[in-house]
Amino acid sequence: MSGIVLITGAASGIGRMIATTLSKQYDLVLLDRDHGRLETLKQTLVSETHTLETVTVDLSDLEALQASLTSLKLSALDALINVASVPPEHQMFETLSVDDMRTMFTVNTLAPMRLFQWAVPLLKQGTLKSVINIGSVHTKSSLENGAIFRATKAALETWSEQMALEYGALGFRVNTIAPGGVASGMLGDLTSQFPYTTQEFQKASPLKTPVLASHVADLVTYLLSDSARSITAQTWVIDAGYSKR
Ligand SMILES: NC(=O)c1ccc[n+]([C@@H]2O[C@H](COP(=O)([O-])OP(=O)(O)OC[C@H]3O[C@@H](n4cnc5c(N)ncnc54)[C@H](OP(=O)(O)O)[C@@H]3O)[C@@H](O)[C@H]2O)c1
Repeated sequence: MSGIVLITGAASGIGRMIATTLSKQYDLVLLDRDHGRLETLKQTLVSETHTLETVTVDLSDLEALQASLTSLKLSALDALINVASVPPEHQMFETLSVDDMRTMFTVNTLAPMRLFQWAVPLLKQGTLKSVINIGSVHTKSSLENGAIFRATKAALETWSEQMALEYGALGFRVNTIAPGGVASGMLGDLTSQFPYTTQEFQKASPLKTPVLASHVADLVTYLLSDSARSITAQTWVIDAGYSKR
C-alpha cells in the first residue's frame, strides 16, 4: 500500500507514533499547532518518507484551518487521520466557561468534521479512501470531571459511523479508534490530565499490561491495509480491557 495520508495531532504522543509508523510506507502531511515540534519530527522522519509536508495551525480556529488547507494544494488524499484533541477538562462541570466548552467541541469534534468536508473531493481521487478518527475509551467508561471531553468524543464517534454509512457507496471507509491508558502528552505519569496515571490504568485493567501508542499505530496500519477492505463504521477500543472491567 502507498498513498498520501494527513495526520492531525502529529507532533506528540499517539499522533507522533502513527506518523513514525506510517512514514516508511506513505507520503505524509503532518498537522499540529507547535511548529518547533513538527519541524523536529520532520527532521527525524525525512529520510523514511517519500514526501513530507507540515502544517502548523491551531484547530480551535476553523478559519485558520480553512486557510491552511487551501494553501496545501493537494490533488488527491488517500487517508485522513484525526488525532488532535484537547485533554479532559479536569474540573467540576459548573466551573467550566462557555469558551472552554466551545474550544473543546471545536478541536475535538468540529475540526475533524471540517477536515472531512475538505477531504471528500480529495479522497474521491485517492485509492485508500480511509478516514480514521481517534476517539476515547471514555465513551465506553466513566471519567470523573470529564463530561465535556466524553461528549465531544461521543459526538465524534456517532458522526464517524454516520459518515461511513453516507459515504460508503463512494468506497469510503470510516472507523474510530478509542484508546485508553496510553502514555502521551495528555496522559503522562507525572502530569496526567486524566484522573489517573498510566500505572493506575494498567493496574485496573484485566490484562494488566501497558497500552502503547504503537498498539494504536499498528491498528491504523491494519485499517489502512487491503486486509481491512470490508471494515467500516466500527469503533475499535484499545484499552487492555479497562472499559469492560
Ligand atoms: N493517551 C490516552 O490514553 C488517550 C485516552 C483517550 C483518548 N485519547 C485520544 O488520543 C488522541 C491522541 O492523544 P495523545 O494521548 O497522544 O495526546 P497528546 O500527546 O497530547 O497529543 C495530542 C496532540 O494534539 C495537539 N493539539 C491539541 N490541541 C490542538 C489544537 N487546538 N490544534 C492543533 N493541535 C492540537 C497537541 O498539541 P499540544 O501538545 O500543543 O497540546 C498534541 O500534539 C486524542 O484524540 C486523545 O483524546 C488518548
